[in-house]
Amino acid sequence: MSEEALSIIDKRTQATYEIPICDGTIRAMDLRKIKTGPDDFGLMTYDPAFMNTSSCRSGITFIDGDKGILRYRGYPIEQLAGKCTFLEVAYLILFGELPTEPQLTEWVDQITHHTMLHETSKRFLEGFRWNAHPMGMLVSTVAALSTVYPEAKQVLDPDSRKLQIMRLIGKMPTIAAYTYRHTHGFPYIYPDNDLSYTENFMNMLWRMMEPKYQANPVIAKALDILFILHADHEQNCSANAMRAVASSQADPFLSIAAAAAALSGPLHGGANEEVLKMLDVIGSKSNIPAYIEKVKAGQFKLMGFGHRIYKNYDPRANVIKWAADSVFEVTGKNPKLEIALELERIALEDEYFIKRKLYPNVDFYSGIMYQAMGFSPEIFTVLFAIPRTAGWLAQWQEMITDPEQKIARPRQIYTGPMVRDFVPIEQRGVPAAV
Ligand code: ACO
Repeated sequence: MSEEALSIIDKRTQATYEIPICDGTIRAMDLRKIKTGPDDFGLMTYDPAFMNTSSCRSGITFIDGDKGILRYRGYPIEQLAGKCTFLEVAYLILFGELPTEPQLTEWVDQITHHTMLHETSKRFLEGFRWNAHPMGMLVSTVAALSTVYPEAKQVLDPDSRKLQIMRLIGKMPTIAAYTYRHTHGFPYIYPDNDLSYTENFMNMLWRMMEPKYQANPVIAKALDILFILHADHEQNCSANAMRAVASSQADPFLSIAAAAAALSGPLHGGANEEVLKMLDVIGSKSNIPAYIEKVKAGQFKLMGFGHRIYKNYDPRANVIKWAADSVFEVTGKNPKLEIALELERIALEDEYFIKRKLYPNVDFYSGIMYQAMGFSPEIFTVLFAIPRTAGWLAQWQEMITDPEQKIARPRQIYTGPMVRDFVPIEQRGVPAAV
């Protein structure tokens, strides 16, 4: 029996049980032996939305939500954002260590040589309506890559996994840029291997007739920082979707599509787009108090505020605030920043937000910065999905190589009718309105 244990008395039977405690948790399966009799299934836990359930052991990302700490593989996010490139951080997240110089050179070279999309994928994109949402196009196109790379199904083969990882990190910016070009009716731009990861993305998005695209270095650097901040965030909704779908050994293209679909929702990555819409609705600083009153009355949420884990300032929002200065020097201030800063000030002094520990999250300021950099709101969540692909893939690798993991399959508490005899249609009463 472990040193740390939980004693449980089952008042139904008066039996006592010792449940080991390890890493501050008990194993839900240990509760199964708590039974009222041989026919009893055993005790389960009920935890809708996984409020207090660890679904895995993970060595990738550490968050202390009360202190506002975020670290990838032990390195504070502020240091990584200030000193690394996104591809360096992606390597760290995926392989556990910061790359040496030769490792980084090889990694960048590998990613750079996987940026092209199969021509059929380009034609696939052309089938979307001009006003299709970029996230819908991204999710479908990533899923479609599963048909281009059938060998990706070999998810238990480490070499195959590494190849798919390079393909996905290489191709996500290309797909993302093509969704934008499709919306605007612009011809697709092929990747340029001379450029860095973010510069090349900007090239594929924005190059028009110029023979060689010159990215603004300040914007490219700021985008790289934003990519670092969004690279992973432990067991959030989309990481959980990635792990759950991939636990059936679905290939990584399909699993990434599922994770990106989870990201698209307004309560998750879709919030950055919603923040901008909200700031447009508010319109001016003088309208903020009335807007806050409506939020407090439960009419809608303050988008970009609140977090399941952070009960303090989201450290990513802090980094964005300092990175924003250099962007605004080049682009001029986004007029929405004034409204956002005032909204934050008023909310953080309000009892409703103080009591519930609601602070700005990463999405509150990222959209303002993206807009200043020239991105339109519909593409904000796509900008989130590009770097998060590294995190999803790291979570996938960790899950697939963890001997404790199996196909994800939660239990339920059944609340429907137990058993009923079939009723012929002519004998059925008028059903209650649904
Ligand atoms: N505005 C107003 N009230 C809020 C907000 C908000 N943004 N967020 C939470 N609350 C309130 C809830 O209504 C609840 O109040 P109650 O106790 O009176 O019922 C209380 O704070 C606790 O909130 P929950 O909904 O239980 O918190 P949960 O952890 O389930 O939700 C979430 C977290 C989804 C992020 C939520 O805060 C939210 O919807 N925020 C707005 C959307 C957003 O910004 N999402 C991006 C998150 S970051 C990311 O995914 C990258």
